[in-house]
Amino acid sequence: MNKAQQKEYLEDYAEAKRQGKPFFPYAIYKDHLVALFAIGIVIAMAIVYRVEVGEPVNPATTDFVPRPEWYFFFLFELLKIFKGENVLTPVIMGTFLVPNILMVLLVVWPFIDRGPERRIEKRPVALAIAVVVIALMAWLTEEGVKSPSGTVDPAAIELEGLDEAGEAGLVLYAANQCSACHMIKGEGAPGPGPDLTNESSKDRGLEWQIDHLKEPASRTPGSSMPAFPNFTDQEYEDLGTFLEGLGDTYK
Ligand code: HEC
Repeated sequence: MNKAQQKEYLEDYAEAKRQGKPFFPYAIYKDHLVALFAIGIVIAMAIVYRVEVGEPVNPATTDFVPRPEWYFFFLFELLKIFKGENVLTPVIMGTFLVPNILMVLLVVWPFIDRGPERRIEKRPVALAIAVVVIALMAWLTEEGVKSPSGTVDPAAIELEGLDEAGEAGLVLYAANQCSACHMIKGEGAPGPGPDLTNESSKDRGLEWQIDHLKEPASRTPGSSMPAFPNFTDQEYEDLGTFLEGLGDTYK
């Protein structure tokens, strides 16, 4: 600010002070009126649009893919961008590093950008950054809206070439909530288990699949997949055949 600007500003300020009303009680009174009005709307909506209480939650469920409220979808999707070998990578990057770097930037921005210009059209870089950040958040939110939730109806997984074992395997796959951790052709959860669309390409073999279902850690040391020890021999065979055919016989 140069001398002339400063003088002008001080004059404006003195003038405003002479004409203006003191903060207390005028501004406080207005703030209270608006706040009361807003609270009144919330109370009225709570009375008019009653929210039904849903079913009691089941803490033992394994088939529920938890999802945040929509306004957290961008953070939720950010986690998926940083998928890595290490399970901690997405957590560190998506919930800590990236959001905190952005928050710190927001706080220190007034100290970095010392330009006196306030008009938005004269600040192309700041404007571009704001637009890009908002667009990215909007895009991540949209991805979150589209991402699958809950369990998968076997009819939703469209596979060609299903024979009898394939059909039976798919029914078992759907009934045992495998899709809470796995995805086949875009249906199901993106993790923590691998996408099974091309499971046949791993050439595991039927016996491997059955052993893995009975006790995942016996084939994949340290596996966090739950064991499925209670199928009948026929069911193991159908499910194993189904898995071994994915991407090859069943696509
Ligand atoms: C709670 C999450 C979870 C559930 C439920 C789950 N899995 Fe998994 N699954 C995993 C994880 C994690 C891995 C990776 C570690 C491993 O291979 O054991 C995996 C791996 C696999 C693999 C890949 C093995 C390989 O490397 O070739 C297959 C096939 C598989 N699961 C099938 C199933 C089937 C079928 C069901 C349902 C009967 C199921 N999973 C249920 C988490 C799960």
